[in-house]
Amino acid sequence: GRVVVLAGGLSHERDVSLRSGRRVAEAMRAIGVEVEERDVDASLLPALAEHPPACVVPLLHGESGEDGAIREVLELLDLPYVGSRPAACRVAFDKPVAKSVVARAGLNVPPGVALPHETFRELGATAVMDALVRRLGLPLMVKPAKGGSALGASVVHDAAELPGAMVSAFAYGTTALVERFIPGMEVAVAVVDDGGAPWALPAVGIEPDGGVYDYTARYTAGSTKFSVPAKLDDDVAAACAQAALTAHTALGLRDVSRSDLIIDADGTVWFLEVNVAPGLTETSTVPLAAQAAGLDLGEVVARLARRAVD
Ligand code: DAL
Ligand code: MG
Repeated sequence: GRVVVLAGGLSHERDVSLRSGRRVAEAMRAIGVEVEERDVDASLLPALAEHPPACVVPLLHGESGEDGAIREVLELLDLPYVGSRPAACRVAFDKPVAKSVVARAGLNVPPGVALPHETFRELGATAVMDALVRRLGLPLMVKPAKGGSALGASVVHDAAELPGAMVSAFAYGTTALVERFIPGMEVAVAVVDDGGAPWALPAVGIEPDGGVYDYTARYTAGSTKFSVPAKLDDDVAAACAQAALTAHTALGLRDVSRSDLIIDADGTVWFLEVNVAPGLTETSTVPLAAQAAGLDLGEVVARLARRAVD
């Protein structure tokens, strides 16, 4: 039957989502699946009610796509969809909450503090920032507690840069996560859960030309060097795969997820965050990992869609 790919929406990652949706729709059409691409707006629910598809593939990044809200509505409409359930999304999309869950499951997470904007107002921004630097040291990583694509995220090398970094993070949400910055190599590990036990795709090593994997480095072709599989010692590669599987399982995720990890100079693997709707654009890591594993992106999504319907 017909598959509806949801892409776009009103989050800060709308453009990324449109690119993910376009790519997946083309990959599925190439193998003969009937695909309709839909943006998320007021015409969506009446259209889904009038012509219910066999399955929905929500490729919406950021809030409402990844926090579970749209999937909650799909549940309400009794429509099968690919991906994690709303409750699991809510936990996974909230970085501080997800970190505490995976830490309990044994993963290393950067020490950090999540603070709502109100706390800075009530206690005085300077006093709170002084305490953060005293407690966590420098450099720091500052990001919105809920967000994606590195929007509003910055590395703070000097205490004088902290106020600006906090303002950037609060531009994207009411709570900021301030963490010790872990220097090392960033890798992304996707987990696919398409029938048997969940399994990890090859780790993708990420080396942005400018040193920082920011929005531009993520979505400008040629601005980041990827290695697939990442050049890692076998034991470190195994630890990365295990970390991604542990995160997927501990958070109760379904179908597909991508954990973003840092490997420090000692070879210790640190969990940064997990994505329940990882980017599937031309410059995203999951399609690279799938290709390296000999998988066709369209086949993978079509298989997940068939599973959702069964
Ligand atoms: N948030 C973007 C889409 C990603 O994680 O790939
Ligand atoms: Mg992310």
